[in-house]
Amino acid sequence: MTTSDSASSTSSAAGPAGPRPEGPDEQDLEQHFDATIARDQRIEPRDWMPDGYRRTLIRQIAQHAHSEIIGMQPEGEWIMKAPSLRRKAILFAKVQDEAGHGLYLYSAAETLGADRADLTQRLIEGRQKYSSIFNYPTLSFADVGVIGWFVDGAAICNQVPLCRSSYGPYARAMVRICKEESFHQRQGYELLMTMMRGTDAQREMVQDAVDRWWWPSLMMFGPPDDASPNSAQSMAWKIKRHSNDELRQRFVDMTVPQAEKLGVTLPDPELRWNAERGHHDFGTPDWSELQRVISGDGPCNAQRMERRRTAHEEGAWVREAASAYAAKQAKQSERARKGAAA
Ligand SMILES: [Fe+2]
Ligand SMILES: [Fe+2]
Repeated sequence: MTTSDSASSTSSAAGPAGPRPEGPDEQDLEQHFDATIARDQRIEPRDWMPDGYRRTLIRQIAQHAHSEIIGMQPEGEWIMKAPSLRRKAILFAKVQDEAGHGLYLYSAAETLGADRADLTQRLIEGRQKYSSIFNYPTLSFADVGVIGWFVDGAAICNQVPLCRSSYGPYARAMVRICKEESFHQRQGYELLMTMMRGTDAQREMVQDAVDRWWWPSLMMFGPPDDASPNSAQSMAWKIKRHSNDELRQRFVDMTVPQAEKLGVTLPDPELRWNAERGHHDFGTPDWSELQRVISGDGPCNAQRMERRRTAHEEGAWVREAASAYAAKQAKQSERARKGAAA
């Protein structure tokens, strides 16, 4: 991954937003922005950017942040039921990582002028979405492994190209997130390997979890390209680097040999290697199911939102205490500054 900070910023030319009576006019700024994108350089927070670019990024980053936070729930349910202290500690650490990913991403959205409290409000009022995958239930401990393998695996396919996204803070947040996601994927696979070496009942649990999570995981990449109207603009702005269908194909090609090694069957009779294309052919996900889940009618939508709302309400005192502490600290350092100046 090449995400070095050497990609130059455009801030020197464009300067911060705000009135600029003698500054360059909008057309110049836009040309400069386009040229920066064309040179594969980064747009930074203080650079001029088109409103549509800013809006698209805020929506995408917020949706990504919400997914990380809601994504803590399906596996979080298994922390208390994990079969050993070791598995509990691993799962605890993984779920905590997801909270961290949410925080980096909310911070990246704030560099675009979004307000984190407002984004949270939009989530809990259902005005902003999160990934459809987290609206499916985790029925056995094998689901924890399959989520690591499939869901974190799909996240890696989606997010590694985002390390080269045109918006600097988003791209840089992705570098660390991807490292952790790849660790998550391996822990999921290792858990499944262990279960596959166990009893028949454990092997059945793994196969059952694979059967339930395979198609929803393919849907994580979003609708097919011809039904994804925003993709072309996002790709032109280099926010997104590959289309939904390309990424889905990449995920299938990556996962098939892993499934063989594990000894499970992927539940798709149309899945086969196509030597001519150099890729696997596979069946069509049930797009009407994706639509249903996205529009709020998945198996666990209501439960996920209810829990998020409750956690937000119950966390009010923590936010108040943190704000009061920050205000006190600010006052103290202000006093110290005045004291030093006097
Ligand atoms: Fe994550
Ligand atoms: Fe993860």
